[in-house]
Amino acid sequence: MNPKDFLISAYGVRMPRIIYGTAWKKDRTAALVEQVIVLGFRGIDTACQPKHYNEAGVGDGVAASLRHGIERSELYLQSKFTPLSGQDPMQVPYDTKACLSEQIAQSFQTSLKNLQTTYLDCLVLHSPLANPQQTMKAWQAMEQIFHSGGVKQLGISNCYDPGQFELLYRNATIKPAVIQNRFYAQTGYDRAIRDFCREHRIIYQGFWTLTANPNVLAHPMLKVLAEKYRRSAAQIFFRYLSQIDIIPLTGTTSESHMREDLAVFDFELTADECEIVERLL
Ligand SMILES: NC(=O)c1ccc[n+]([C@@H]2O[C@H](COP(=O)([O-])OP(=O)(O)OC[C@H]3O[C@@H](n4cnc5c(N)ncnc54)[C@H](OP(=O)(O)O)[C@@H]3O)[C@@H](O)[C@H]2O)c1
Repeated sequence: MNPKDFLISAYGVRMPRIIYGTAWKKDRTAALVEQVIVLGFRGIDTACQPKHYNEAGVGDGVAASLRHGIERSELYLQSKFTPLSGQDPMQVPYDTKACLSEQIAQSFQTSLKNLQTTYLDCLVLHSPLANPQQTMKAWQAMEQIFHSGGVKQLGISNCYDPGQFELLYRNATIKPAVIQNRFYAQTGYDRAIRDFCREHRIIYQGFWTLTANPNVLAHPMLKVLAEKYRRSAAQIFFRYLSQIDIIPLTGTTSESHMREDLAVFDFELTADECEIVERLL
């Protein structure tokens, strides 16, 4: 990726404008992570949630990529603390009887061990907890990790209520630098949340951007743009998102799609064309 294919967050963290997501890769995780980094991806998203992610496999893939001469400092590694409600009861990666802040500390240490690293670029709260008090408690435990130097910035995921997000922002000492949400019509594409992000320099990451938007991808206008630029509809959509400073995640397992996803930065939509895509949402 070229220098212009990165965003600098409010915490000074260099974030690639497209991030590789590692959910549901199981035994293929290590090989896929090594492959995408060697191809040019510099951002990796995972979670300390064995139900959906093989975080140790991500660490093995990262370690293998470092043997190709890539430096750890060139990579953006993001993992998540997943509350008990999101864990498989048979494989919880922390002591279920410990208090919330201890669970978060244990989960974070497991992430470092799994990822074979001494720090994370971002630690994300996988979802708000049952009430604002619990969410704030979790956030404060993550702030402790930030203050100890273990992580460069914090984020939250699956937070679709603008009021809830704003409350977290107002009460946090270390403000969220990132929000990672499903980008789709049912939430009105998080318009209010994205406005808030713009005002407060918070970076919006979108997941399921392709799978949750088949109507957008199939729209004739996207086909016209795809033909003009000799790109796929997926590339046009990813390019549009990056031009409005959304970071899309891609979970592809196909090498040609990996290459296509990385190649969205070598062309640019005009402002009018961005308007056209915007109107499809
Ligand atoms: N925070 C959360 O709760 C949460 C929830 C879900 C996901 N995530 C994160 O988001 C990551 C991405 O997951 P996702 O499901 O959103 O991935 P995705 O990229 O939307 O979905 C993958 C699908 O898109 C296809 N694809 C990818 N690039 C393509 C391209 N250039 N052209 C055509 N098809 C393309 C893939 O097929 P091929 O494999 O054939 O390319 C696959 O069918 C996850 O791995 C995870 O890290 C987070």
